Amino acid sequence: MKTNYCLLFAAAVLLFGCTQKNNIELSIIPEPVSTTIGNGHFTLDSNTAILINNVAADDPTISYIVDHFASMMQMPLEISETKNAKSSILFTINDTNDTAIGDEGYVLTVTKKQIKIAANTTAGLFYGFQTLFQLTPSDIAGKKYESVNIPCLTINDYPRFEWRGTHLDVCRHFFDVDFVKRYIDILALHKINKFHWHLTDDHGWRIQIDKYPKLTEIGAWRVDRSNVPWLEGEAPKPGEPATYGGFYTKEQMREVVEYAAQRHIDIVPEIELPGHSSSILAAYPEYACDDYPYYVAIGPYWPPKAILCGGNKDIIHFLNDVLDEVTEIFPYEYIHIGGDEAYKDNWKACPKCQRKIKELNLQNEEQLQGWMIAEVEKHLITKCKKIIGWDEILEGGVTKTAVVMSWRGIDGGIEAAKHGNHVIMTPNNFCYYDYYQADPLYQPVGIGGWVPLSKAYEFDPIPQSLTEEQGKFILGGQCNLWTEFIFTPDHVEHMLLPRLSALAESVWSPKEIKNWDTFRLKMTDYKNRLRNLGYNFCEGSFRPVIKTEPADNSTLLVTMESEVADAEIRYTLDDSEPTTTSTLYTQPFNLSGSHTIKAVAVYNGEIRESAAKLEVFSSKLTGKEITITPQPSEKYAANLSETLCDGVLGSLSYSDGKWLGFQTNKVEIVINNNGDTFNTIFLHTLIDQNGWIFAPEKIDFSTSDDGNLYAVTNSHSFDAANQVNGALSQKFSFHFDNKISPKFIKITVYGLDAIPEWSSINAGKTPWLFIDEIVMIEE
Ligand code: ACM
Ligand code: ZN
Repeated sequence: MKTNYCLLFAAAVLLFGCTQKNNIELSIIPEPVSTTIGNGHFTLDSNTAILINNVAADDPTISYIVDHFASMMQMPLEISETKNAKSSILFTINDTNDTAIGDEGYVLTVTKKQIKIAANTTAGLFYGFQTLFQLTPSDIAGKKYESVNIPCLTINDYPRFEWRGTHLDVCRHFFDVDFVKRYIDILALHKINKFHWHLTDDHGWRIQIDKYPKLTEIGAWRVDRSNVPWLEGEAPKPGEPATYGGFYTKEQMREVVEYAAQRHIDIVPEIELPGHSSSILAAYPEYACDDYPYYVAIGPYWPPKAILCGGNKDIIHFLNDVLDEVTEIFPYEYIHIGGDEAYKDNWKACPKCQRKIKELNLQNEEQLQGWMIAEVEKHLITKCKKIIGWDEILEGGVTKTAVVMSWRGIDGGIEAAKHGNHVIMTPNNFCYYDYYQADPLYQPVGIGGWVPLSKAYEFDPIPQSLTEEQGKFILGGQCNLWTEFIFTPDHVEHMLLPRLSALAESVWSPKEIKNWDTFRLKMTDYKNRLRNLGYNFCEGSFRPVIKTEPADNSTLLVTMESEVADAEIRYTLDDSEPTTTSTLYTQPFNLSGSHTIKAVAVYNGEIRESAAKLEVFSSKLTGKEITITPQPSEKYAANLSETLCDGVLGSLSYSDGKWLGFQTNKVEIVINNNGDTFNTIFLHTLIDQNGWIFAPEKIDFSTSDDGNLYAVTNSHSFDAANQVNGALSQKFSFHFDNKISPKFIKITVYGLDAIPEWSSINAGKTPWLFIDEIVMIEE
């Protein structure tokens, strides 16, 4: 769309003989619902007046706009009382409601004489102004323009979702009020309308509560271990002072609420319960199940066993007291009550909790959590508030009125929507912006994971498996920024940007007009705008994405793409390291045989990240009938049995869509080989023990003449329980000195029954087997 507009403008210049050079390109993010380009342009300069209609000059939205013409655009414009200024920007609230644009939409019309932003509400005017800002040159915040040309056009725009959220964890690391306001400014630029403020957690309590002063006197401060990596911080020694932390006073939080409101952003405070409560228990140990000496958690504290005692006679009273003060500070109708990762070992061992379970006639500890949350919700309803909880709240039985925030993928959201609960989608594999967005080798140390810009852009809040009716329960989507590994404002911005632009399109723009290629082109201009506004952002992932698909004559069609539109791609096919002079990728090409493809993106003559690598094979398995028992998990199903013979090995990321994942200790793969001849067959598997993925313990290779009676001819055993750091893939090969040509082949993969004892967190749980390819070769 960007390029088309440029062409259109160039054509208009030719047709109408206008000599004025246009330096404006349209790269509006999020992409508006519709844009129609006209002829000519409006000249914005210091003679332009601001006109207002049906809105007061001192309305906070108008103050913001006037302020920002001066500060963001360096163009101080005044509000004019006279309605007939020669050059004007009119902000008008419609006399009659324009139902097409709803509560947040706007119509932006640019003619040679006037820019007009019309909306039903001041929110609409605000979003129209943000769009207008993006019609000015991307360096306007950094460079003084005497005049700016805005192309004549009409934009009709309104959001797809009512919930367009962004979260910030201020507990793992603390960020002061000035930075929180700056963060809110960034959200405003992206038409985000909810700020989820994660205020309490094991590592710090950040909100002043008058009735319980120790929550901040003690709970807001931990022993400072910032001199060592997060995961190496040791527990406090007796008497060590707690000096790292901070909290927000009520006055500060009210100031932030007002600041956000002026930007049409509601603040959703999160008060975690019943888990993630070390900071509460450090301050008020009487709310614990046991007499363990709780302290405000240090970095590697995991699993978060600290939990409020569900059987304590005062616990609901305490929580209601706290929430009463929270509701006085935050006017928005929603309060987030956490509910995630509440490990219940303490509840299982606690006589008070067990008594409470019996007294309430509950089945288990999950239901005790369900009861606690329902009690708190009942109280909050009396204050006209609604609750949001992480998707774990489904496990203890959830009331009809609670809103579910789906973070462990989309399953929780799907279940909740099917039950008729409202849902906010924030699946970690698309929306966790603490995950890496580019080659970790070139990025600040992070928590892991993989959400590059392109992945973030794929996010669609409405899962395909929901019916249209069920889809209506999805309020929208949100990205989350946890800060275990993020301790400076600059780093927060680096993780948020530019991915927030991807979220913005996912939650604002109509699904039908979202387009990765257009979006990617808009990025150059967008990043320049961020740069000129002084924001820190990640340049994106330069590492090319190499894709293959089966093509004619047993070849693979290879395509390559870099997220950064202006980078060129250079590649090799023989496993050698590509350089700035290796073969230039210009278009998709066909490849046969076995190769290791390596590709780099070259940007301004430099290779910015390590090479992308993909091993491809011509396997004799392609086209054969393959059955797998059991079927892989829905989450890791790739293209089912086709995946096993697509000629491409999966990456080290288990969620790259190339792996089949099975949470079981035995997988059988039967191949109808039809007597084909080969002498080597190998199986490619993944190990990523952090993700519960373990190597096979044993693999049996059997053959059969009739597909019924199989004889094991070869077998391999491995020490799958061995502890392995990080992710790695492994090939398990069967080689036959003399070629064989069985009719049927069965490969049986045995996994561990349980995660070994050395994993203090996950011992005993069922591990996963991950398989992506079987390659059959005749050498
Ligand atoms: C979460 O990430 N524990 C909600
Ligand atoms: Zn208890």
